[in-house]
Amino acid sequence: MQLVIDSANIEKIKKLNEYFPIDGVTTNPSLIVKERKPFLPLLKEIRSVIGDEKELFVQTIAKAAEDIVEEARFICDTLSGNVIVKVPVTSEGIKAIRLLKDDSIRTLATTVYTPMHAFLAAKAGAEYVAPYVNRIDNLTGNGVNVISEIIQIFSQHNLPCKVLAASFKNVQQIHNVCLAGAHGVTASPELIELLIENPSVEANVMQFRKEWLDQFGEEIVNL
Ligand code: E4P
Repeated sequence: MQLVIDSANIEKIKKLNEYFPIDGVTTNPSLIVKERKPFLPLLKEIRSVIGDEKELFVQTIAKAAEDIVEEARFICDTLSGNVIVKVPVTSEGIKAIRLLKDDSIRTLATTVYTPMHAFLAAKAGAEYVAPYVNRIDNLTGNGVNVISEIIQIFSQHNLPCKVLAASFKNVQQIHNVCLAGAHGVTASPELIELLIENPSVEANVMQFRKEWLDQFGEEIVNL
């Protein structure tokens, strides 16, 4: 199961990539704009932080299928390493995913809100779909159920497409999509850091350390 950082912030990506078993980085236009840096140099910087092996997901902006394809080719020609192009699930997007598949360009279908969006994207040849769990919840849908149904459809019909669950507001949602069988999650740096937060761990570690130091002092390395 993949753990992906949903951010374009270099410092946060550097830190998480150093501490946690990260598989890649997803970006979107809003995340890029937030950094107030030129698009391609920023993506190249992210690439240099995570290395060529890990997956870097970059979203297209164009609306028409042919323009999406052109953008996708440009992104793949410009960036090194494992690049996956994120394409929104409009009709034009689905057409573009199909054309990109013929071109051997890997895609992730983004802005997925329903199992039928995911079905169409998988049929068109997307390697991943990214259902927006929290945004679905905010529309009084059930994001985790959408994930479960997509997984069921893909497995019942042998559709070789992975579910990278996206858009989270809290750790409980991430926990639930892990249980539902998502192939991966992409979450903000703040939420990834929260996955390990637990006041009991800190209290336990302090207690163990105190008892040890009371008995042996700082002589730990000489034992
Ligand atoms: C990921 O691919 C999406 O761009 C992202 O997860 C959306 O998350 P948000 O709903 O927190 O903006």
